[in-house]
Amino acid sequence: MYEVLEKELLAPGLVRLRIRAPDVAGKVRPGQFVIVRVDETGERVPLSLADWDKESITVIVQDVGVSTRKLGALAKGDSILNVAGPLGTPSRIENYGTVVVVGGCFGIGPGYALARALKEVGNRVLFIVEARNKDWLFWQDKLKAVSDRLIITCGDGSAEAAFGTEPLAQLISDEKIDRVIAVGCSFMMMEIANTTRPLDVKTRVSLMPLMVDGTGMCGACRCSVGGEVKFGCVDGPEFDAHQVDWSLLIERMRSYLDEETGALDLWERENWHRAMKSRGTF
Ligand SMILES: Cc1cc2nc3c(=O)[nH]c(=O)nc-3n(C[C@H](O)[C@H](O)[C@H](O)COP(=O)(O)OP(=O)(O)OC[C@H]3O[C@@H](n4cnc5c(N)ncnc54)[C@H](O)[C@@H]3O)c2cc1C
Ligand code: FES
Repeated sequence: MYEVLEKELLAPGLVRLRIRAPDVAGKVRPGQFVIVRVDETGERVPLSLADWDKESITVIVQDVGVSTRKLGALAKGDSILNVAGPLGTPSRIENYGTVVVVGGCFGIGPGYALARALKEVGNRVLFIVEARNKDWLFWQDKLKAVSDRLIITCGDGSAEAAFGTEPLAQLISDEKIDRVIAVGCSFMMMEIANTTRPLDVKTRVSLMPLMVDGTGMCGACRCSVGGEVKFGCVDGPEFDAHQVDWSLLIERMRSYLDEETGALDLWERENWHRAMKSRGTF
């Protein structure tokens, strides 16, 4: 069992969990993820690693369905049944020059881990945050500590721009950007790819296909990258953004939408008190 050492409600539907997992924490490298199963009936949920120390890992969980809602309803001292990892090929951390990291919603967490590693090897790091609104902003101080410039965008129009693509295009027109790395929801990463492709700026994205085993055995995470079949869990999760078949990725992610909606409806009716707790209602 893996104990929840800290639980913080960052915004309604967005939580930070620090979990005791020394067997995982000692081996993590930036860009990797874990797969957690909250209880016996829980689905296997892939979560990117946002931070770690010798004994614990930190993940940011965005509530989109039953399993993420169960995770959000955990409290300090509760336990998670399984944490498997670290999984995936680590991000290639080199001195590229000037790197823009774009972190969207929960992706601000793993984006921080990438920015920290890129900064440590001498890159100039510019960090663009794409949040739904001001409530969804977190880790500003941590981000400032690992980046040369922090740019905030909020989808509700409350910041200097609504989406990360706007300042990104401006930065690329103002100066030489050697690399862009984006982590967050698939639609955001696709938009980043569409912005940098015509400007010919190398761009990497941390893909989030549906996953089951996370070790290359089931094929659930199959993606098409550069016309070749790739498994997100072992070949990725990071890939060349300009080579990803985004339509196929997004279509495959919607494969079980009816079942997922039905499962959430049923769980919410049976667990309304836990659902409210996970959203900070009480
Ligand atoms: C490598 C990897 C790293 C990830 N890191 C994080 C993270 O750090 N924080 C975080 O909150 N989420 C992360 N995700 C997404 C997270 O795993 C899913 O949101 C979660 O599995 C959904 O489970 P659920 O039962 O709550 O929702 P479900 O009921 O299974 O799904 C509800 C909705 O979420 C969508 N969804 C399902 N699986 C995924 C998925 N893999 N990615 C995106 N949307 C999905 C479905 O299409 C559906 O619309 C990551 C996914 C991958 C593959
Ligand atoms: S999740 Fe099964 S092969 Fe990748």
